[in-house]
Amino acid sequence: MKPVKVGLLGLGTVGTGVVRIVEGHQEDLRSQVGSPIVIEKVLVQNKDKARSISIDASKLTEDVADIIYNPDIDVVVEVMGGIEHTKQHILEALSRGKHVVTANKDLMALHGQEILAKAAENRCDVFYEASVAGGIPIIRTLIEGFSSDRITKIMGIVNGTTNYILTKMSQEGASYLDVLKEAQQLGYAEADPTSDVEGLDAARKMTILARLGFRAEFALEDVSVQGISGVSKEDILYAKRLGYEVKLLGIAERSDDQIAVSVQPTMVKQSHPIASVNGVFNAVYVHGEAVGETMFYGAGAGELPTATSIVADLVAVVKNLKIGVNGLQDVASYKETKLKTDEQ
Ligand code: NAP
Ligand code: HSE
Repeated sequence: MKPVKVGLLGLGTVGTGVVRIVEGHQEDLRSQVGSPIVIEKVLVQNKDKARSISIDASKLTEDVADIIYNPDIDVVVEVMGGIEHTKQHILEALSRGKHVVTANKDLMALHGQEILAKAAENRCDVFYEASVAGGIPIIRTLIEGFSSDRITKIMGIVNGTTNYILTKMSQEGASYLDVLKEAQQLGYAEADPTSDVEGLDAARKMTILARLGFRAEFALEDVSVQGISGVSKEDILYAKRLGYEVKLLGIAERSDDQIAVSVQPTMVKQSHPIASVNGVFNAVYVHGEAVGETMFYGAGAGELPTATSIVADLVAVVKNLKIGVNGLQDVASYKETKLKTDEQ
């Protein structure tokens, strides 16, 4: 069984979790895909930095070319963040026939169409389950689980850092800046936490969910965004006295052909289940015309929860490799290819 070789771009919070899961669950993964999955090379900024995980030094590189131009690498897992330079790396990797798994919502919200088109052109997979709601498999659920329904509304808490901050402010009266620092130390926050606290991270995630859920184009700039930096301890206290919790809610709605998406701090009645989604946890409500209301709940950020989504994507890529259906954008084209193959 030929091993599947992975090039990992980034060994921070999420990258470390990916290595731990690939190594720790190796036998279980192999039993599902039939081949060993090997982390072949790892891109970092600084090879000499102290790490919380022990990794063979010969695998570390500071040169992205060692991964994207490396003919031995089958799959590139991008967990380094960044937008423009990262997009170029991913497009290069796809041009060379490498499949891509990414946790990068910034990139997928802004350049998802271009990346998916390049993937289709090269018959490669791009999977991005970890880009929204960390360990909750919401992307796969929207694409596959709701394929028979018409979704009318997606609503929820999709940023772990801000929910962690609001929860600690509400339950412990903690200061906004102290809790933000804590969320950064725990690895929940973005490299620049402004995108968490000003709602941009949630807006990017809601853009991805709206596109997939409503099966329509939707642009990030059309999201109405307000973050939590203006929410004071007093606001939270008054809301509590009135029987509410303050939550940063993302709401995407479709009525007729109109799509409206917003992110804003919202007073949620304490009796509503979303009011008790605390800490780094996320929750996503999806309303379908036929199914009615459904709710998905789990850790929205952090090393291992996020890495479970990445490694699940990796498993999906490898399974597709085995049956030869990578890069097919929909079931119709799969059937068409299969028919042609069967006829030969
Ligand atoms: P992180 O802890 O800051 O790690 C980033 C890693 O990438 C580091 O290992 C860093 O190298 C490397 N890196 C960054 N820029 C680089 C460059 N230009 N060249 C080479 N290496 C570079 O970030 P993270 O929290 O793991 O997040 C990574 C991605 O996952 C981001 O897109 C983020 O939005 C997404 N994400 C994060 C979470 C989470 O809970 N943290 C959850 C879902 C999605 P050094 O180690 O040498 O500095
Ligand atoms: N900074 C993000 C959050 C990471 O706190 O939700 C997960 O996408």
